[in-house]
Amino acid sequence: MSHHDESTAERGPQEIADLPKEKVARFDAALPEILKRYPTDHKEAAMLAALRRAQEIFDWLSPAAQKLVANRLGAAVTRAEEVATFYVMYHTRPVGRHVVEVCTNVSCSLAGGYDLFDHLRKSLDVDNGGTTKDGRITLRQVECLGSCGTAPAMLVDEEMHESLTPQSVERILGGLK
Ligand code: FES
Repeated sequence: MSHHDESTAERGPQEIADLPKEKVARFDAALPEILKRYPTDHKEAAMLAALRRAQEIFDWLSPAAQKLVANRLGAAVTRAEEVATFYVMYHTRPVGRHVVEVCTNVSCSLAGGYDLFDHLRKSLDVDNGGTTKDGRITLRQVECLGSCGTAPAMLVDEEMHESLTPQSVERILGGLK
């Protein structure tokens, strides 16, 4: 082990120990499969996949969860932080029970996507990336979801909804517990 590895391995243990043990165990159990798919010459891809899995398990990527991923991959904590904050699919703030991601890129905005987002922001009383006070919904503005042909589009808990209207959005969100 190099000096570099030692220092990164030692930087996080306390915070990692404070994570729920059962969830850490689930993450550790999932890791061999990820490492098998992304061998050492694909470290970066393994980082993306490991963060993704950690997010599924811990709901969001807290600093402790980021440290766990870095620790297990033998990567620098700063690298995990960089990746987690760079990509929009990672949550580095706590999220609500449901995550609503409204596309406000060009095609969607021309079809009313931005207005939908703006309306939701006001009606849910949250900022972009914020969570309603009852913890029900986290609202985020996102870039193109690849459904421009059926704009405007949004993801609700990663499920795609297209050709949205104010009425359909209301119906979909109204159905969320
Ligand atoms: S611009 Fe919204 S899905 Fe492409």
